[in-house]
Amino acid sequence: MPDTTAPIPARFITFEGGEGVGKSTQVKRLLNNLERHNVRAVRTREPGGTPKAEAVRSFILQGRSESWGAGGEAVLFAAARLDHVNQLIAPNLRKGNWVLSDRFHDSTRAYQGLTGGVDEKLIGALETLALNGHNPDLTIILDMDPEAAFKRVAAREVEEGLAETGDRFEKEELDWHKRLRGGFLAIAEANPDRCVVISADQGEDELEAAIWAIVSARFPELGGRTA
Ligand code: TYD
Repeated sequence: MPDTTAPIPARFITFEGGEGVGKSTQVKRLLNNLERHNVRAVRTREPGGTPKAEAVRSFILQGRSESWGAGGEAVLFAAARLDHVNQLIAPNLRKGNWVLSDRFHDSTRAYQGLTGGVDEKLIGALETLALNGHNPDLTIILDMDPEAAFKRVAAREVEEGLAETGDRFEKEELDWHKRLRGGFLAIAEANPDRCVVISADQGEDELEAAIWAIVSARFPELGGRTA
């Protein structure tokens, strides 16, 4: 009989993907599923996760970093990540808590690197600096055709009264999101041991079950642990 009370090694799981694919809902659902299996876990996000990184987040998301260009933004994201890793991710893993992050270093590679044109060598150097050896054990890439994702976001905005119609996206924007999607798929192809691509074009419950199947297959030590 496996000892279901013995501590199991803490794992670091990241979620990645384009906009409107439903990452944050799935991060919450995985956290609940882990807790149901008696696994202590924390949920965090990027950019952000610590006070310093959240300050960088508001600077960037307010559009104040736009004039820095994609290279400058990559450096800002990496600076926020360095603090996030040192102050939140690494200490939690050391304490035995699993860490689930809504976005991490692959976002810099996909947005600023593969889509934004920042040189691969700079992206690689920033990764080495910011990760400080803390590579994710598993990265779940939620993949969706950007047109479908746009429709989903637009429908939500109409539903919440934030927009009147769902057709505010322009072709250029769509092309950019298609390149972004290609960037994440290329990252998955280059890192087959770490990354799993999963279609986000399915219901939330089905997606939750598919993610749980991936996580429990990847970490068989979860098996046999019930709430
Ligand atoms: P957010 O509102 O959290 O978007 P989402 O719900 O899609 O995660 O905003 C984060 C934005 O920052 C998102 O557009 C992706 C972008 N980003 C980068 O460009 N590079 C990065 O390294 C990270 C972590 C995020």
